[in-house]
Formats: sequence, C-alpha cells, structure tokens
Amino acid sequence: MKILALNATYRPTKTTTRLTQSALEGAASVGANTEMVMLRDKNIQFCKNCLTCYKDLESEIAPCTIDDDVGEILEKIRDADGIIMASPVHCGFVTGLMTAFVERIAFRLCRPTGEIMGLKGCPEPRLTEKARAVATIVSAGGMPIEMREYCDLGTPWLKEMAGFFNGECIGDIYAGAVFTKKLQDEEWSKSFLFRELTEEQLQEAFDLGVKMAEVIKSEKVRPYNPEIFMKEGDQGN
Ligand SMILES: Cc1cc2nc3c(=O)[nH]c(=O)nc-3n(C[C@H](O)[C@H](O)[C@H](O)COP(=O)(O)O)c2cc1C
Repeated sequence: MKILALNATYRPTKTTTRLTQSALEGAASVGANTEMVMLRDKNIQFCKNCLTCYKDLESEIAPCTIDDDVGEILEKIRDADGIIMASPVHCGFVTGLMTAFVERIAFRLCRPTGEIMGLKGCPEPRLTEKARAVATIVSAGGMPIEMREYCDLGTPWLKEMAGFFNGECIGDIYAGAVFTKKLQDEEWSKSFLFRELTEEQLQEAFDLGVKMAEVIKSEKVRPYNPEIFMKEGDQGN
C-alpha cells in the first residue's frame, strides 16, 4: 500500500510539513509505504491553456506540451492507493503553488467526457483501475478552529480532488491557530509569528494517517461516482 502526500507549503520544516509528516508516520505505523512530495522543490510551470491534454480522450495520463516535473508526480499518483493534499491557508484558500499544480493535473488526470446533472463535457477520472483514498490537511496562522468557516475555503476544494484520483475523501484536518501565550493587544498584528503547533494537532494528523491506511486495507474506498459526488458534495468524511 502506497500513500503519497502532495505538500504545497513554501516552508519545508514548518506547520504543514510537520502535520503531513505526522500523518505519514501514522500511515507507516500500520504498514503503508509513504512518500511526501514537496511541490516547492519541483519544477512546476503554469498551465498555458493549449488544451493538448483536454483534446486527448484516450490516454490514461494525458500528454502536456510543458516539459517539467509534473509528469513524474502524475506517475506517483498513478501508483498511490492514498493521497494527502496538504497546504497552508493563504488568503482564506490554499497556496498559489497548490492551485498552479492542480491546473496542471486537471485534464491530464480527467477526460472531459463525464456528465453531471445532465451537463455533458464534465471531467471524469482517467485512472480508474483502482479507487484512491484522499485526505486533506490545511494549517492556518491567524484563525482558530472556531472561526474555520470564515477562512477555510481551501478544504472543500481540495476534497473535490478525490474525483480526479477516482476516489473519495476519508478525512480532513484544519489545524487552526493556537497561541501558546496570551497575546497582548499590540501583538495581534504579528499573530502568525506566535502560532504554535500543538501535540493534539500532531496527534490528529497521525490518526488521520492511520485511518487512511486502514480504510485502504479494508478495501472500502468508493470510486468516483458523479451521483454520490453531487449528493455528498465533497464526498464523505
Ligand atoms: C500570504 C499569506 C496569507 C495568509 N493568509 C492566512 C489566512 O487567510 N488565514 C490564516 O489563518 N492564516 C493565514 N496565513 C498564515 C498561514 O496560514 C500560517 O502561517 C500557516 O501555518 C503557514 O503554514 P506553513 O507553516 O506550512 O508555512 C497566511 C500566510 C501568508 C504568508
């Protein structure tokens, strides 16, 4: 069993990375092979909208005119049984790196031959030989968990990626801002700098990794199904 984490943080040793590492340790503790791809270390160029991938209705992984590292990441996705999408919350959403990456993989992993609610031409997954479990991890610097709904537009969007991978989302984590000291009024403008990762948050990530590996082992991951997708929105959890 292989679990792949795609981490779109800009800081390789901080919050998102530590949470993702913890999730992978959890998965490894119940037998998974794990790997984290730091997207910041890869050559990922912007999509040019040439539609080469979109026009190819046959390939399992559609071709692209850009020669960079996205192709090797797509091969890792093909191999994986579980995929963790990880990003900091930036401006209420995921990082630009994550959106740039998702633009590049959308029609390489999906054909525009699907139908949702009667609308033809929708994306449907190409890699249908197995269902992949998906989990999401986001970390915030200012907004505590109680205020998640005001700043976490990224998680529902990341969970939709389960469709690209022909699977469903089995869990998500929002690591909200926790401050280890009481901030003085003048310190709130620097709140990102005082944000600390807690043992509870790391444990939650570890448990998510365990859950992902166990769901994969139990062979209960459902493949992408547009009806379920529309009914359950982000598919499950
Ligand atoms: C450009 C930018 C925008 C941010 N926007 C938000 C935000 O909307 N809400 C929030 O709670 N934190 C925000 N933050 C703080 C990050 O979410 C926080 O520092 C996060 O833990 C960073 O993850 P990292 O440690 O993996 O880099 C922002 C940080 C940056 C650099």
